[in-house]
Amino acid sequence: MSAFKISERVSYIGVNDRATYRFEGMWPIPKGVSYNSYLVNGSEKSAIIDGVELQHAYEQIDEIKEILGGKAPDYLIINHMEPDHSGTIRALRHAFPGITIVGNAQTLAMVKGFYGEEGATLAVKDGETLDLGGATLKFVLTPMVHWPETMMTYLEEEKTLFAGDAFGCFGALNGAVLDSELELAPYMSEMVRYYSNIVGKYGQFVQRALAKLKDTEIATICSTHGPVWRDNIPKVVEVYDTLSSYQPLDNGVTVVFGSMYGNTTRMVEAIVEALAAGGVRNIEVFNAGQAEMSDMLAAAFRHRGLVIASPTYSDGIFPPVAAFVDALAVRGLRNRELVVAGSFTWAPQAAKKILERLEGCGMTLAATPFTVKQNPSAEALEVARESGKALAEALAR
Ligand code: FEO
Repeated sequence: MSAFKISERVSYIGVNDRATYRFEGMWPIPKGVSYNSYLVNGSEKSAIIDGVELQHAYEQIDEIKEILGGKAPDYLIINHMEPDHSGTIRALRHAFPGITIVGNAQTLAMVKGFYGEEGATLAVKDGETLDLGGATLKFVLTPMVHWPETMMTYLEEEKTLFAGDAFGCFGALNGAVLDSELELAPYMSEMVRYYSNIVGKYGQFVQRALAKLKDTEIATICSTHGPVWRDNIPKVVEVYDTLSSYQPLDNGVTVVFGSMYGNTTRMVEAIVEALAAGGVRNIEVFNAGQAEMSDMLAAAFRHRGLVIASPTYSDGIFPPVAAFVDALAVRGLRNRELVVAGSFTWAPQAAKKILERLEGCGMTLAATPFTVKQNPSAEALEVARESGKALAEALAR
């Protein structure tokens, strides 16, 4: 996309990726993704903050040359080394041989490990500053948001926080970069999907970063993905605070199930009908054998209620449901009202193993877990309905 001037000193020089099918090789991005990059101009020097993904290198280099009118940028500041932002390091060095790569000690070790670069580098520590001439960049180390080397860069004169992946979302930028110039609902939804998929395991570190920035005045947040936040900063900070403290965003219910012959599906329908009858309106139901893990995780992070239903398969949890349960456990999702249901033909294992995997996660059982043999009887369907009713009542409290 074109370069956008977002303030006196800062230009947006990021790119849209509308071609990649799965981000990190896993997460679908049907609406694309933006790799945000920024050029900060001081009266004496200039700095690129974060690069873009490799295949977009020349698009970005052309924009930098146009903005700087033939001058070369002095610094490339790497807030985050994941290759969607660092992939252009070699290309930028080739285009601008005098450029100095700026990062903390872990960043610079990774630069060498990923790209074998031997050129000029500048190691910075937490709280140090770099003066570009009337543009002072302060470095704030925020490890594990999302990798161990992650840091943020704060432009003091404009109170602008270059936040790395934090406050980012999937979705290419449709013609503008400022939040005031975009329809926000799709990006806010994609923020939950991005967070739950990619950063979700690191809630405690996000909380630490938010606490560290608590007294920093912030007028603009420049994330590495999605809109530049200016008019909606309290809202996005609140969403991030809620997600990273593993609190739900709403009182809806996520239902994830697997079914081979329809028996688990019948139980799930009974649970869902009871939920609706109990007043729950926001119910998302996923057949794990067909649904994207990405969407199931986003729903689980969003809603307070969670139903997991699985047949026994090879003496364990039905594999697509097992993958979802494992993804929850890895992320340590907690503070959810949980219903667990199993079905089986000869070995009642699934419900027991779901509970074992989630043990210690800090979820509350809204109903007694139950297991149904083969085709659910009228009595078994009544038990399923009772569990849905109990979940609806728990959510109403
Ligand atoms: Fe957008 Fe963790 O990289």
